[in-house]
Amino acid sequence: MKVRGTVRPPGDKSISHRALMLAALAGGGKGASELEGLLTGADVKSTARVLRQLGAEISSIRDDTKVVVHASRISHPASRLHCGNSGTTARLMLGILAGQKFAATLTGDASLRRRPMRRVTEPLRAMGAEITEGRGDALPLTIRGGRLRALTYTTPVASAQIKSALLLAGLTGGVAVTIREPYRSRDHTERLLAHLGLGLHERGGAIVYEPAPEGRSLVPAFRLAVPGDASSAAFLVGAAALAEGGELVIENVGVNPTRTGFLVVLARMGAHVDRVNLRDAGGEPVADLVARPGGGALRGTEVGAAEVPTLVDEVPMLAVLASRAEGETVFREVGELRVKESNRLELIAANLRVLGVEAEARGNDLHVCGTTRPPRGRVDTARDHRLAMAFAVLGTLPGADVRLSEKGSVAISYPRFFRDLKAIGVG
Ligand code: S3P
Repeated sequence: MKVRGTVRPPGDKSISHRALMLAALAGGGKGASELEGLLTGADVKSTARVLRQLGAEISSIRDDTKVVVHASRISHPASRLHCGNSGTTARLMLGILAGQKFAATLTGDASLRRRPMRRVTEPLRAMGAEITEGRGDALPLTIRGGRLRALTYTTPVASAQIKSALLLAGLTGGVAVTIREPYRSRDHTERLLAHLGLGLHERGGAIVYEPAPEGRSLVPAFRLAVPGDASSAAFLVGAAALAEGGELVIENVGVNPTRTGFLVVLARMGAHVDRVNLRDAGGEPVADLVARPGGGALRGTEVGAAEVPTLVDEVPMLAVLASRAEGETVFREVGELRVKESNRLELIAANLRVLGVEAEARGNDLHVCGTTRPPRGRVDTARDHRLAMAFAVLGTLPGADVRLSEKGSVAISYPRFFRDLKAIGVG
């Protein structure tokens, strides 16, 4: 099949969460922020719902509509804060709540209640937040913030959610935070804080937040155009890489280097993707991507541990492409995939095997051997949006018969996914 046309991926999920949160904290209760291009997916709606429970006034989140956030000082919620399926909501909100003088309880859906929270609660406790666990290292959790202490911390895993939670605790608690991470994870929080003039800098390889001398920094009300989500664009790029011809233009994609490792890996595998019209939006690099089918076989590659944080959400997509590449592809040190919306590491391998591909998780590495045999079988998505989209893309191959256990999970990050796949000629 041939790809064709021009598509705009939905707003960046990571930036949408952060923009809403900072807008809700803006002005110490004064001023309105305007956010354009915000993701309308369920995860971002979870963040909006939680912020509204805390007193923020947020207009409804709809496609092609500017979202206006009237900040009001956030205050004690009347009920539990339900974070839905969204790890980013839960972990970043823990950071924000650590600097507040009231108690709040966070919970989430069954998948989120299985995900590890200690990576965030431990350093937040070291800053002085009181966090009571109901079921060990998982939601629901009750947090009572208050007077915080400065923190210098090295994260054991490269995770933007840990880093962002701590920076937001520093911001709301009015204390300095210095963070080192084993590899650089996505830096949207840093960029947005710096863009808003909020005491963020790098010093000797560490990320440093320093509050204004009088203590609590005041977040200004702001306007932001959220770029398209590189992680959503990745599925379209993947579909183009598997197509037999044509050309696909993906407009307005965030190309922050901490997010575009998949483009680096795809270039090594022999796929053709150009970035054109490079520009800046609110401190984030943005470009249009032009993707062309390779015209020849993709090649297997090795993805190193240092690259993983820059493509952590793209491993399902890359693994699916690797199943069509010549030779073996190895993803090193992808153990973090076990604690995403599903156990992605095991499910990528198991589903590929169901479809006739040799694939295996060995320790924390994922091995995928390419084949030319058409993929046929039923994929268990475990209601994980990125598994559903990656395997849907594999299903666009000629001769494929890939049945998904469900499709609704795409609403988490890319509600229009199946429509866009059709629109580009392969769905
Ligand atoms: C995110 C960080 C990543 C990523 C997730 C979004 C963020 O998680 O997988 O989809 O917005 O900070 P980790 O911080 O757990 O790596």
